[in-house]
Amino acid sequence: MREITNYTILITGGAGFIGSNLCEYFLSKGNKVICLDNFATGHRHNLTACISNPDFTLIEGDIRNLEDCKKAVEGVDYVLHQAALGSVPRSIKDPVTTNDVNVSGFLNMLQAATEAKVKRFVYAASSSTYGDSVGLPKVEDVIGKPLSPYAITKFVNELYAEIFSKTYGIETIGLRYFNVFGRKQDPNGAYAAVIPKFVMQLMQHEDITINGEGNYSRDFTYIDNVIQMNELAIATDKKEAVNTVYNTAYGDRNTLNDLVAYLKEYLSNYDSEIANVGVIHGPNRAGDIPHSLASIDKAKELLAYEPKYSLQEGLKIAVDWYWENLR
Ligand SMILES: NC(=O)c1ccc[n+]([C@@H]2O[C@H](COP(=O)([O-])OP(=O)(O)OC[C@H]3O[C@@H](n4cnc5c(N)ncnc54)[C@H](O)[C@@H]3O)[C@@H](O)[C@H]2O)c1
Repeated sequence: MREITNYTILITGGAGFIGSNLCEYFLSKGNKVICLDNFATGHRHNLTACISNPDFTLIEGDIRNLEDCKKAVEGVDYVLHQAALGSVPRSIKDPVTTNDVNVSGFLNMLQAATEAKVKRFVYAASSSTYGDSVGLPKVEDVIGKPLSPYAITKFVNELYAEIFSKTYGIETIGLRYFNVFGRKQDPNGAYAAVIPKFVMQLMQHEDITINGEGNYSRDFTYIDNVIQMNELAIATDKKEAVNTVYNTAYGDRNTLNDLVAYLKEYLSNYDSEIANVGVIHGPNRAGDIPHSLASIDKAKELLAYEPKYSLQEGLKIAVDWYWENLR
């Protein structure tokens, strides 16, 4: 693989969970990193390790503003576009704002990156694009109808990326992330993801609520696997590997009940009472699909992707991080 060093990389949403991990990683590899973020859901504390690095530039700005996007892409080799409003329930509550950020903001970034002639535009797509398709594992070419406003926005991103590469010649790669977890994922707020939320509640001996019976399953993907995919997406020199999308996952699935059992087991090493924290089952959530599992064959074949962390391996590391940092 071509080494990714001495480049200038723009990471939008770089103050968020995935973006801040990408910022740290690409700085550690000897690149210049520019972060564009409006701190809508990201945090300054995610950038503590970056901010004093002379190779790091923070631009506080909004992807809904084309001028901010144009300023951010100046002199940039690669864009890793992560900025978006995540969460299916948020998009159900406020579809207009989700669309403004995830569609109009995306289009602004793509336009700015095209004008600036960046080498490649790699963006965060989503497993939600599989929508109501029931087949498992999910293969990139077979998608269903979107089940939420959020899913529509992420599918529209793929459509725009394809049209821009065909029409204007910009190279794009979409990474369909599947339930990413790991250090720095936000445990707080109404739209917190399930793993950090459960970890926080378990650490505080608060009963946790599973939506439904707990037999829904997900392809939980540790952050370091996602970093690897972003690096491979930048690095590939194969023509057939660009202007397409890839599942970005581990390639296995676990139920929510499995997940809670692992979390209790690992956290009990620190505090034995956590094993006795209660689990309540509530109703299923609107827009949730029962099962999700990625085929990662395409990424293996075209990008030589080899995920290094299973759910259990990643969770052990993540739990240690949460115990050290958020207790
Ligand atoms: N976490 C997952 O499991 C997952 C799964 C599928 C796709 N994704 C996608 O990955 C990307 C990153 O997700 P995350 O989990 O790190 O979320 P996050 O909320 O932690 O990060 C998103 C970042 O984007 C920033 N942002 C939001 N609106 C902005 C705007 N208008 N202008 C500039 N910055 C803005 C936020 O402040 C935040 O720092 C998103 O595009 C998300 O849709 C995530």
